[in-house]
Amino acid sequence: MWEKKPILLLVLATGAILVGTIVTMVLPFAWVNTEADRIEVVTPYSALQQEGRDIYIRDGCNNCHTQTVRPLVSDVLRYGEYSKSGEFVYDRPFLWGSKRTGPDLARLGGKYPDSWHYKHMDSPRSMVPKTNMPDYGWFSNNPLDPQMIQRKMETLGFPFTAKEIKALEGKNEMDAMVAYLQKLGSDIPWREGTEATIVGELKNPYTDSSQATISAWASLYTENCAACHGPQMKGEIGPELIGEDYDAEILFTIIYTGIADGGMPSFSSLGMDKVWKLVNYVRNYQADGTQ
Ligand code: HEC
Ligand code: HEC
Repeated sequence: MWEKKPILLLVLATGAILVGTIVTMVLPFAWVNTEADRIEVVTPYSALQQEGRDIYIRDGCNNCHTQTVRPLVSDVLRYGEYSKSGEFVYDRPFLWGSKRTGPDLARLGGKYPDSWHYKHMDSPRSMVPKTNMPDYGWFSNNPLDPQMIQRKMETLGFPFTAKEIKALEGKNEMDAMVAYLQKLGSDIPWREGTEATIVGELKNPYTDSSQATISAWASLYTENCAACHGPQMKGEIGPELIGEDYDAEILFTIIYTGIADGGMPSFSSLGMDKVWKLVNYVRNYQADGTQ
């Protein structure tokens, strides 16, 4: 049949391949990055953030971290609002990635206070004991080169002012990295209205917890809270938790929903039972102070 007619086969095969190419490659170029994709509130990187981004690439953070939240329920529940193409218009090159040794970072901005990042970059294991993320404390020893950064901004066509370049003096690579991490995915106000809501009446199920049970809950505190509130609740990145006579329901709400603009994450993903255990652990700890 066709295979006996080389010219016809050639034409048909070329046609088939062309259709495939147009549908999968040419059309997306026309669809993506059109005006319709632009998001008003998405701004270019500042000089400091752009430098942080270049260090991120230089040190291969993208080998362990992706930067895109896929529109899948599991991704959205874990990381937040899925990524929109318009959020990446200033990314050159893109850092979407495909390998998640560590968590996705596309919605990282605003998740933690700056001080959390300084400590975590300096020594990830001081916050998450079993993490395999390397230490990057040495970023703090490398001062930035404002002239070089100015040239990069010019090449990229991003806006910057002489004042902004001047402000880079005295800053180091760690400052740039933290500024960059805090910008990630925070242009669109997706956190608004995503706070975990508590359904139903709050009732402490562990009112007569014995000392023994509460000690068994200590690991919940160590794993989830100690990095910010200190191993003895004396405070570090977050405030001291001892000596505050928290009401159980209020404490539950703080832990379950977090304090969005204060840098205290939500722990609704632990489920209500574990949050209640934490409530009673924290309340009992401060009453006693010796555990
Ligand atoms: C060998 C793999 C690896 C490399 C390389 C790596 N990380 Fe990580 N990273 C991880 C893992 C695993 C975690 C999860 C545990 C933790 O928080 O340390 C993580 C967590 C993080 C977090 C916290 C995310 C969150 O939502 O809690 C940030 C921020 C981060 N990494 C930034 C970086 C930056 C910036 C670099 C490059 C300078 C980098 N990582 C390089 C593996 C890596
Ligand atoms: C990423 C760091 C971080 C982690 C992890 C964290 N917190 Fe916080 N927490 C904070 C910060 C920062 C504040 C202060 C927020 C504010 O007042 O605006 C805070 C505030 C609080 C408060 C209110 C303190 C007060 O008296 O105003 C309580 C209670 C609390 N956290 C308990 C917990 C518990 C329990 C955990 C573990 C499940 C936890 N936190 C995990 C950072 C953290």
